Amino acid sequence: MKKRLLWKLLGVISIGTVALFWLIDLVASHTEDSMSYIDQTYRTELRSYAKEAERIMTTKGDAALAVWIKNLEQKENTWIAITRPALETLADTDFSDRYKSEFTLGRSLDWKIHLYFRENPTMDILFSDGKTHFLIQLPQRMRPGSNLLIIDLLLQIALPCLILCLITFVLYRQVMRPLRRLEHATQAFSEGDFNARAGNTPDKQNDELTHLTAIFDAMAGRISTLIVDQRQLLADLSHELRTPLTRLNIAVDCVEQDLDKQQALARLRYESSNMQELIDDALTLAWFNTESPKLALEPLDIVDLLQIIIEDAHFEHPEHPLQLEIAKPSIFVQSAQQALAAALENTIRNALAHTSTKQAVKVRVSTLDNRACIYVDDQGPGVPEEYLEDIFKPFFRIQKQDKRTRESRAISSKKSGYGLGLALAKRQILALDGTIKAFNRYNDQNTIQGLTLLISLPLSHDNAHSTAE
Ligand SMILES: Nc1ncnc2c1ncn2[C@@H]1O[C@H](COP(=O)(O)OP(=O)(O)OP(=O)(O)O)[C@@H](O)[C@H]1O
Ligand SMILES: [Mg+2]
Repeated sequence: MKKRLLWKLLGVISIGTVALFWLIDLVASHTEDSMSYIDQTYRTELRSYAKEAERIMTTKGDAALAVWIKNLEQKENTWIAITRPALETLADTDFSDRYKSEFTLGRSLDWKIHLYFRENPTMDILFSDGKTHFLIQLPQRMRPGSNLLIIDLLLQIALPCLILCLITFVLYRQVMRPLRRLEHATQAFSEGDFNARAGNTPDKQNDELTHLTAIFDAMAGRISTLIVDQRQLLADLSHELRTPLTRLNIAVDCVEQDLDKQQALARLRYESSNMQELIDDALTLAWFNTESPKLALEPLDIVDLLQIIIEDAHFEHPEHPLQLEIAKPSIFVQSAQQALAAALENTIRNALAHTSTKQAVKVRVSTLDNRACIYVDDQGPGVPEEYLEDIFKPFFRIQKQDKRTRESRAISSKKSGYGLGLALAKRQILALDGTIKAFNRYNDQNTIQGLTLLISLPLSHDNAHSTAE
């Protein structure tokens, strides 16, 4: 899902906030409710005052009751009244019986007390005659909700703070988990551990942050391959340069000492041009590795291009018949001429170099599933199956005895390659959105007949026009 983190944050914050308000309201109303009633012991005490007043009134009379009331008023710092109200109606109206039986002047002891009223309420206790009311303003010591302020502070400040802290903590953990992995990986990577990755412990989160760690991992992967490749390239290059440099020095010595001067000068020219080629190829390879260039693609007739390349190759190697088999007179691919020509030249040159004299090298071109397929078939010894992928690695060569080598070659007049041709061809073809692979062809006796290099490239839309025309 896109913007998963956003939805997650929105969800947690909105649900959390609603839950916060709901919880505060619930707890507040519940606590306020439970705090709004007069304590049972005080209710019994007040009832016993009324009972005592009734007893004094009936046994000792009003004078004794007045003295008792005065004493009680002083003791509780309140006022008390005994009354028997006469309900008078006007305009020929009357009360209902229920109203008369339930009529009170003050509040019943079992009613809720309004905690926010400043004045204490007047409590009303009926004598057993059902008419006389014992009224007493609730003494301050009996007023419920004395710790209302503290409870209010707890509910309005402490509880929201606690819940918000919890929500923040949950969000923080969600956000920080991938960030922390990213931090550790970046730290390790910056300290030279090129295998450090942020997504090593996969979790179910799958949001923008995990996406970020995935991007970091991809970047780290690319950079580490780049660094490793560059290091390898540099090491190989310096190793490869050592032999021609030694030969150059020997040739210079020969010239200085006037020994076989002509041959030494020829050797000088040969080695320096070889070194030039090696450095050019290595630099191009490094450029492809570091830049991963996107070449400008344009429609290109592959048949035309191959005819020119084959003509040139035939001029260089007249000893080999070179055949071109094409499915159509023109096949347009979406490509860049220079890179494609270089890659094709390298593969055809390899095929010629590994095919014995008089034997043919065949180039076939066909189309399949919107792609052009170029096969370069030689009749050489092929490549051991385990090295079919390795031949595309820089400086990889196979010795006659089928052994992998990066060792320097003996001085020979025949120019042999540095193992950069196919590595370059692969990068060039990849930059053209193409693929290149090698496979051996076998005969019925299961012996290798030769190697085939298959290059596949995206077809251009121009094929449709050319067919229509
Ligand atoms: N057609 C082929 N038949 C057999 N082996 C091949 C063929 N093409 C390539 N190889 C093997 O793969 C290795 C790498 O080839 P690549 O073209 O990269 O280098 P190279 O030809 O040795 O040197 P250069 O840098 O001049 O091309 C070769 O050294 C050779 O061992
Ligand atoms: Mg080559």
